[in-house]
Amino acid sequence: MADRKLIAVVGATGSQGGGLAHAILNDLAGGFACRAITRNSAGEKAQALKAAGAEVVTADLDNLASLEKAFAGAYGAFCVTNFWEHFSAEKEKAQANNMAVAAKSAGLKHVIWSTLEDTRKLMSPTDKRMPFLQEKYRVPHFDAKAEADAFFAGLPVTCLITSFYWDNLYTFGLGPKKAEGGSYTWVFPMGDKRLAGIAAEDIGKVAYGIFKAGSNYIGKTVGIAGEFLPLHRMAAMLSKALGVAVKYQAVEPNTYRGFGFPGADELGNMFQVYRDFEKEVVGARSTRVASALNPSLLTFDEWLGKYKSKIPL
Ligand SMILES: NC(=O)c1ccc[n+]([C@@H]2O[C@H](COP(=O)([O-])OP(=O)(O)OC[C@H]3O[C@@H](n4cnc5c(N)ncnc54)[C@H](OP(=O)(O)O)[C@@H]3O)[C@@H](O)[C@H]2O)c1
Repeated sequence: MADRKLIAVVGATGSQGGGLAHAILNDLAGGFACRAITRNSAGEKAQALKAAGAEVVTADLDNLASLEKAFAGAYGAFCVTNFWEHFSAEKEKAQANNMAVAAKSAGLKHVIWSTLEDTRKLMSPTDKRMPFLQEKYRVPHFDAKAEADAFFAGLPVTCLITSFYWDNLYTFGLGPKKAEGGSYTWVFPMGDKRLAGIAAEDIGKVAYGIFKAGSNYIGKTVGIAGEFLPLHRMAAMLSKALGVAVKYQAVEPNTYRGFGFPGADELGNMFQVYRDFEKEVVGARSTRVASALNPSLLTFDEWLGKYKSKIPL
């Protein structure tokens, strides 16, 4: 253990951090060790990580002192926030700031910050195509993360720009919905534009590749995706994999924002950014870089082969 580089993994019980924790634990000869950070060390996922060889440490992103302890003595940290737990851009920034401060106190050698781009830079403040949310954001969970990049400045940091998880089809209620006559509709405000998507498990595997590559990625921003696909093609692949007819139905972003489920306005804005700024969003991400860092990177079809049974029909 002592000769291995210890990575403090925030979100180790979740998708992104979990992918990294398992990548470290599955590669005994890789030279890294995993400190899994959680608010609930007694929880099932934390205990499973412990059984797999992780050190489990309790800390809360809202509590700086707990994070300072959790990062102390580590070589590096993977930093992620969970916007969807509280829906607050301000809270997300405060949590990111706590991680950056703790990383500085601990003198970490490499930090990966899981971020997204500032969508406000893509349109002028007077642009009326989508509303501002939480007063000053276009897509709060993107813009807040991008603002938080500044907190990590001065640290040996890699900013990792992620993509839409295909896993949202079963974890986020974004799968096809049953329609008349046994077919399914899949509704997004994406027109015929390509969605930058990725298997959630691959984000952590890419992060592991970044830690292994060491100084090559310090001071850099890395954007990753598994595949860029238009929704009608994804629907055809879903139909084949699930053995049912899935029809993509494009709606206007305003219609989507009005659906009324929690976060519909936020997701409406986000998909509109993916649609209206397809070139910029796709251009900020690379499947080539992602697969160089994670040779087992899944395509959408491969992801379907592995996870289709989880998609509720
Ligand atoms: N869904 C997507 O398509 C997508 C795409 C790109 C980016 N993202 C971003 O991904 C982020 C969520 O990451 P994820 O999907 O890996 O999360 P997740 O699977 O929902 O798990 C959340 C993780 O965050 C930890 N956590 C949350 N609040 C914490 C706190 N106050 N203190 C300590 N740990 C805390 C949880 O740990 P414990 O509960 O064990 O304490 C858990 O491990 C969001 O901010 C979202 O914007 C999502």
